[in-house]
Amino acid sequence: MKALVFHRPGHVEVNDVDDPRIEDPQDVIVRVTSTAICGSDLHIYNGFFPQLKDMVLGHEFMGVIEETGTAVTNVAKGDRVVVPFPIACGACFFCNHELPGHCENSNPEHYGPEGGLLTEKGGALFGYTDLYGGYQGGQAEYVRVPYANFGPRKVPEGFSDEEVLFLTDIFPTGYSGIDWAGVKGGETVAVFGCGPVGLMAQKSAWLRGAKRVIGVDIQEYRLETARRTANSETINAETTDPVEAIRDMTDGRGADVCVDAVGMEADRSVAHKLGNVWRGEVGSIKALKTCISAVRRGGWVTVLGVYGVPYDNFPLGQIFDKGIFMAFGQAPAQKHIDTLIGHLERREIKLDDIISHRLPLKEAPKGYEIFNEKKDDCVKVVLKP
Ligand SMILES: NC(=O)c1ccc[n+]([C@@H]2O[C@H](COP(=O)([O-])OP(=O)(O)OC[C@H]3O[C@@H](n4cnc5c(N)ncnc54)[C@H](O)[C@@H]3O)[C@@H](O)[C@H]2O)c1
Ligand SMILES: [Zn+2]
Ligand SMILES: [Zn+2]
Repeated sequence: MKALVFHRPGHVEVNDVDDPRIEDPQDVIVRVTSTAICGSDLHIYNGFFPQLKDMVLGHEFMGVIEETGTAVTNVAKGDRVVVPFPIACGACFFCNHELPGHCENSNPEHYGPEGGLLTEKGGALFGYTDLYGGYQGGQAEYVRVPYANFGPRKVPEGFSDEEVLFLTDIFPTGYSGIDWAGVKGGETVAVFGCGPVGLMAQKSAWLRGAKRVIGVDIQEYRLETARRTANSETINAETTDPVEAIRDMTDGRGADVCVDAVGMEADRSVAHKLGNVWRGEVGSIKALKTCISAVRRGGWVTVLGVYGVPYDNFPLGQIFDKGIFMAFGQAPAQKHIDTLIGHLERREIKLDDIISHRLPLKEAPKGYEIFNEKKDDCVKVVLKP
């Protein structure tokens, strides 16, 4: 089959690779009909997460079940499914606590309690490095889906692929940033980053009853997308100090909730990049620090953007003084997906309006390039195998 293969940083290709096959009775094989490129894929593409062997990338995919293992009862051959991005068994301590990203069974080689740099990571993810399980991903014609009684969900009738594809990751992820903060209604929510994840967090904030939603980015075309698709007020952090602007909008207090949907690849100066070398850091916690300043005392900062290494100068004193609550991590997609399917069925939210590019799988390398470099007003790329 054809698949998008990561070879080394900056170098992905569509290659012929072996077809996946059933390896465990709980597996299914999905024929992929639509798949997307995620900001998380860029961390591998840009060398922020190490991957030494070739790997098929992709953790946002949906399709039709072609083959099932003998222990699969929840879905059947021919079902059209969306597949949440964490690979999780559904039966261990963490799965039972609605924390599928921490599944104790899906990543036997590299799993552990520590969460270290190159050791003891969390549960597995599709197509997301050997450290996260070494599973081949879904930017391919076919993909093996383990634990098929727990992950895949049947697509409700009457929806196109594009209307439901983002149930696999960015919708539950954006929603988690709002859910962790316990948004109940009436809050001012500021979302840093108007990429796909930030846009979904903004849409989710309205869904949970926010009074005001503010999107912050440095790319004007993405701010325009936030205004158009999420009905947000926007701040361009390149031209306006977002902390001052948010305080001005909130009687000097700051937002009730700030969501970091930027992560470690925030824009940064050449001096910062040089400083990284002696600090032993990769990327920057600039976006997170801005969230900590822009949130009100006693407010919530939720962190969806990915951070991979320890960082010095973490503003712990400021967090303590302000009494800020924080939550971080891989989104528990399986926890929220059924609630979110309900919102879609009632037509309370639209997801596909953020798609800027639709490409055949064979053009996936071009998709990576334009998404990474924010060329051609790229917001979200959907690939069609
Ligand atoms: N927690 C999870 O489960 C989960 C799931 C999916 C993605 N993610 C992560 O979420 C993050 C965002 O993903 P995405 O797909 O939207 O990626 P993206 O790269 O398209 O979006 C990031 C956005 O941040 C903006 N940005 C950069 N520096 C900024 C700054 N200083 N202030 C404000 N905005 C700034 C960029 O212009 C861009 O629009 C990534 O780190 C990704 O890995 C996490
Ligand atoms: Zn993703
Ligand atoms: Zn588990």
